[in-house]
Amino acid sequence: MTPILELNNIRGGYGTIDVLHGVNLKLEAGQVHALLGPNGAGKTTTLGVCSGQIVPSGGQLLISGREVNGVSSDALARAGVCLVPEGRGIFPNLTVTENLRMFTHAGVSFADIQENAFRQFPRLQERRKQIAGTMSGGEQQMLAMSRALAVNPSLLLLDELSMGLAPLIVEELYERVAELAAEGISILVVEQFAQAVLGVSTVASIMLHGRITRTGPPAEIAEELTEAYLGGTTH
Ligand SMILES: Nc1ncnc2c1ncn2[C@@H]1O[C@H](COP(=O)(O)OP(=O)(O)OP(=O)(O)O)[C@@H](O)[C@H]1O
Ligand SMILES: [Mg+2]
Repeated sequence: MTPILELNNIRGGYGTIDVLHGVNLKLEAGQVHALLGPNGAGKTTTLGVCSGQIVPSGGQLLISGREVNGVSSDALARAGVCLVPEGRGIFPNLTVTENLRMFTHAGVSFADIQENAFRQFPRLQERRKQIAGTMSGGEQQMLAMSRALAVNPSLLLLDELSMGLAPLIVEELYERVAELAAEGISILVVEQFAQAVLGVSTVASIMLHGRITRTGPPAEIAEELTEAYLGGTTH
């Protein structure tokens, strides 16, 4: 089967400076792939490449077997690639309902988006009139995920879902991630700290210094993580 996402020896970064030094990664359809690694490893940059925001300086980016190096992020979004960025990417000065209304540009009706969001996250319904920026971090993350679901993605890229959130909320968000995967959405999820995501992942990778150093079953990767983080600082 053709992987939905494939990175072959991807190089890239900011300006003339590469921070990815040959990244190899495959995401099979319907899988949840956890990409783990410490601060500055290149995880967010990798998602930037996958979503078309960063054009690779070398290597091949393939979506469903088609090379898409240099294809714009808008075009990739239309093709079903959806990024939920670090820091959430919602409109903090608008209410929950107004935010949901902003998500309609992708061609899904407001009624459908709202119904879907409130079904997935009943808490958003309770808070529908609240200014998004005043909600808790977890509630804001739920809203950000609703945006992703509004576009009916085939490939979902999640950056640090758990950042700054209490463990219970993180667990709840990852339950939703598992449900999305069960519906057939392929998911690449970046996290710095692994525990919550490994429970719902089918495969996991460790990224250090702009390279993926290990890919394997989540349970094995969990055991190797501490060592990778500690050892990773010395080379
Ligand atoms: N806009 C930018 N301009 C220049 N350098 C950047 C930019 N964004 C990130 N970098 C650098 O690229 C490297 C990789 O950063 P990246 O954000 O991909 O790491 P990360 O693995 O997501 O880390 P974290 O866990 O802290 O989010 C870092 O050295 C970072 O300083
Ligand atoms: Mg990051």
